[in-house]
Amino acid sequence: MRARATHTELVVDGKPFLMVAGELHNSTSSAPAYFREAMQHAKSMNVNTVIASVAWEQFEPQEGRFDYSFIDFILKSAREQQLKIVLIWFATWKNGESSYAPLWVKADTKRFFRIRNRSGETMSAISPFCTAAMEADAKAFAALMAYIKAKDTHHDIIMMQPENEAGAFSEMDYNEVALKKYGEAVPQQLVDYLVANRDGLEPELKAAWNQNGARRQGTWAELFGGQHYDAQNFFMTWQYATFMNEVCRRGKQVLPLPMYVNAWLVQFPGELPGKYPNGGPVSRVLDIYRAAAPAIDFLAPDIYLPNFREVCRMYSRPSKKNPLFIPECERTNPGKAYYALAEHDALGFGPFGIESLASDDAYALSFRILRDELLPQIQAHRGTGKMRAILKEGNEDTASVTIGSSRLAIEYLDKGKNAYGIIIQTGNDEFLVAGINFRVAFGSTTGKKVVIGEVQEGGFEQGRWVVHRYLNGDETYHNTFLFARGRSYSVRASGGSRVATRKMVPLPVLHQHLEAGLVQQQTEGPGIYRVKIYELRQ
Ligand code: DGJ
Repeated sequence: MRARATHTELVVDGKPFLMVAGELHNSTSSAPAYFREAMQHAKSMNVNTVIASVAWEQFEPQEGRFDYSFIDFILKSAREQQLKIVLIWFATWKNGESSYAPLWVKADTKRFFRIRNRSGETMSAISPFCTAAMEADAKAFAALMAYIKAKDTHHDIIMMQPENEAGAFSEMDYNEVALKKYGEAVPQQLVDYLVANRDGLEPELKAAWNQNGARRQGTWAELFGGQHYDAQNFFMTWQYATFMNEVCRRGKQVLPLPMYVNAWLVQFPGELPGKYPNGGPVSRVLDIYRAAAPAIDFLAPDIYLPNFREVCRMYSRPSKKNPLFIPECERTNPGKAYYALAEHDALGFGPFGIESLASDDAYALSFRILRDELLPQIQAHRGTGKMRAILKEGNEDTASVTIGSSRLAIEYLDKGKNAYGIIIQTGNDEFLVAGINFRVAFGSTTGKKVVIGEVQEGGFEQGRWVVHRYLNGDETYHNTFLFARGRSYSVRASGGSRVATRKMVPLPVLHQHLEAGLVQQQTEGPGIYRVKIYELRQ
């Protein structure tokens, strides 16, 4: 990872790399044949990266005896499909539970003790205060990293996600060891962080600390106590962050790949910790992770909520060196990838269950245009302030985008459909616009009257701009608007294996194929346009 002033780069073999990704279903990596087929499906979705998992229970079925075959077949398929891998370590926690821990861990409830709730009941998830679990998890993870280091000579595994959506389904762990720690002083490391970063703290942490007099010493309840289980939440967060930091630290000692942790988000404003996994990396506790966990490179949101843009803003935090990466997202709108990459300089985006998307031609087409045509443009404009994106949410009709002194008024077309796009200022009076289902009128912030002078519709072939059409007259309402209506493609299947042989051909070829009876289906994807504007002087 390379942190720049405005954004962070993921560097793979010396070059910045952006991930057009997809996460596989939870059990897909558990057997070679199934995995291999899923990787073919993922490839047909035009991703460059797959987020796959390794389960601790399969990796270490008996204590100290490791089964490396999973890594072998993951690496083999990655090579076959020429895909990069982000590897999830499903270990002590998966969605707050401990179902992926090996049976020798699960069954030993004394050594690997569980979270205790307020009624004193033992819950199923392992306690973050269980140092034996932390040790065992970190040891196995280090063994995993050692094997990757030895075998991954092509550097196909580019990033690690230890654990998955960690956190407790309780406002507090009521084990004796936890209660004792809760009554002790807040660690100096956190107090120093609070003092050094007092103005920029996340609002919830800042409010809780200030309401209790911004004290520099005292217990968790003394520093943060009062409401909404704040003190318990910050305490539990410190513990989860410390545990996962240790796993990352021990792994990085062996092989220093970038490592992040992912969050099950707060589902609605005011939802209490414990309803969502308490102690997990939600944005309100970003500072606590920063203070406790230097070995965790960043926190990442799994986004299944409708306020996608807001969540992106919460996690895209250059000043706290937290780049946006979305390892999981609901899979109805590929435009979310465009938005994250162009509006927030995200490292990448992955819909969850990519292998089950293989029948969605529109999604695959959109990802192909993003990966093969737009990624170099996006890469070149990261951190420049000249790149923006739009993404329709809910019933929105319009959007407004300002780049430099240009103001673009966007209207969404075709109400029921996804609408999204990116806008890059490529010269003083030139823009590259890519997207679908919107129209743009150009204006300025200075009162100058600017109008469209020329619109080319086209695409990038091996990085070279190729014009498909000049748009004028009806197609731009005589230079009033750029209409980003997108491209039409035919999708052809052959040989009984439509996924592997998906072909997409541009419009003129479509007609020949129609006549020849070759076309089975037609689909739409984003278009790419070059626009020149000029000032209409009065
Ligand atoms: C979020 C989890 O992180 C994933 O592993 C998976 O269980 C999805 N939820 C299912 O929607």
